[in-house]
Amino acid sequence: MRSGVAASLLLTIFLVIFLSATPVEPAVASIDLGSEWMKVAVVNLKPGQSPISIVINEMSKRKSPALVAFNAGNRLVGEEAAGITARYPSKVYSQVRDMIGKPYQYVKDMIDSLYLPFDLVEDSRGAAGFKTDDGVVYSAEELLAMILRYGMSLAESHTRSPIKDAVIAIPPYFGQTERRGVLQAAQLAGINVLSLIHEHSGAALQYGIDKDFSNESRHVIFYDMGSRNTYAALVYFSAYNAKEFGKAVSVNQFQVKDVRWKTNLGGQNMELRLVEHFADEFNKQLGNGVDVRNSPKAMAKLKKQVKRTKEILSANTMAPLSVESLYDELDFRSTISREKFEELCDDLWEESLAPVKEVLKHSDLKVNDIYAVELIGGATRAKLQEFLRRKDLDKHLDADEAIALGSSLLAANLSDGIKLNRKLGMIDGSSYGFMLN
Ligand SMILES: Nc1ncnc2c1ncn2[C@@H]1O[C@H](COP(=O)(O)OP(=O)(O)OP(=O)(O)O)[C@@H](O)[C@H]1O
Ligand SMILES: [Mg+2]
Repeated sequence: MRSGVAASLLLTIFLVIFLSATPVEPAVASIDLGSEWMKVAVVNLKPGQSPISIVINEMSKRKSPALVAFNAGNRLVGEEAAGITARYPSKVYSQVRDMIGKPYQYVKDMIDSLYLPFDLVEDSRGAAGFKTDDGVVYSAEELLAMILRYGMSLAESHTRSPIKDAVIAIPPYFGQTERRGVLQAAQLAGINVLSLIHEHSGAALQYGIDKDFSNESRHVIFYDMGSRNTYAALVYFSAYNAKEFGKAVSVNQFQVKDVRWKTNLGGQNMELRLVEHFADEFNKQLGNGVDVRNSPKAMAKLKKQVKRTKEILSANTMAPLSVESLYDELDFRSTISREKFEELCDDLWEESLAPVKEVLKHSDLKVNDIYAVELIGGATRAKLQEFLRRKDLDKHLDADEAIALGSSLLAANLSDGIKLNRKLGMIDGSSYGFMLN
């Protein structure tokens, strides 16, 4: 519940950005910890390396699956874990970030709705424990620690030196329990968390750091539709006059005015609509009363291929679906039009606009008062992007990388060894109060 009583935490940070060539100190990292994907950036002053970069994983990808798996006594993370999802769906833990700080029943309902066949047990805290084939029970925090450790190891491979310090980006709707859970996971992973940062503030830093607002203040909405969650943040960029060493200077800053969200609404919900559609079609083809939904392996295979179909549909009017040996050695082939897909997700498109409409309503601003709507998050590439663009809205940031890159600026600013020389004030607050018990 949003706290109307407790004063929100206001955080003002001045970033002093750009990198000086003072002594080479250990690098710092930032992690945009998504429910499905993790994006990692580093700041380091190694000669020959760009000072701020998104790190690539072992498959040369700029985002990595936020997954951990246990198979035949081995722990697999990221791409390796993704590689066995369709074969061993019960062994590959996904959506871990969104299970942090949640009660057992919430996690149980969530995995059931996503056809994830995990062996869950309720632990003494009333949280979900994840039981592996070896009988070991891990908490969500422990699983998340393994995923975060993987992120840091990618950063370390990039700089070829150990990295301890990081800023971790979290969604705005995380309450204190979730935030504490992330910090615990980071501690287990041996990460020194310089700060948590809201995802939208990471994106706002990236947006504002190379701009000058002294002649023009502006409202920008950052709209993020990821895999499971959607939010819109209204951010006001401006500048004020100050004196530095007796000289008048103009200092840029931003203030987060409002954030509205819809949890359980993202690209994955659209995928699930396709999964249900194709499951029905396959059941009909079987025609013997069998429901393919009862086979976790079949559902994992179907989900994997549906993801491809969905991505093809974002650029084409028709897309195929092909699943080899979906069920009982039977292959399944089908097609779907974009029109049908849009019809299946009709209510979701409308819902996905709600956070933008809400921030406008609560701020008394009109679409024309907004300088730009910056789209971040993978799922905004789908139909929604067209929809927003039709309203003359903008997109300057890299949808996948803005949060991690902006968060790395804060990591650099908070580090001991990296000196930066451009200022951007950040004012953001938690929507939730602290609990006093
Ligand atoms: N080309 C594309 N067309 C349609 N959807 C896409 C495309 N590329 C990525 N997506 C979708 O974007 C989503 C992933 O986005 P993102 O990487 O922002 O997620 P996340 O940060 O892990 O999730 P969240 O922030 O909600 O926890 C997935 O649902 C994916 O299918
Ligand atoms: Mg995200």
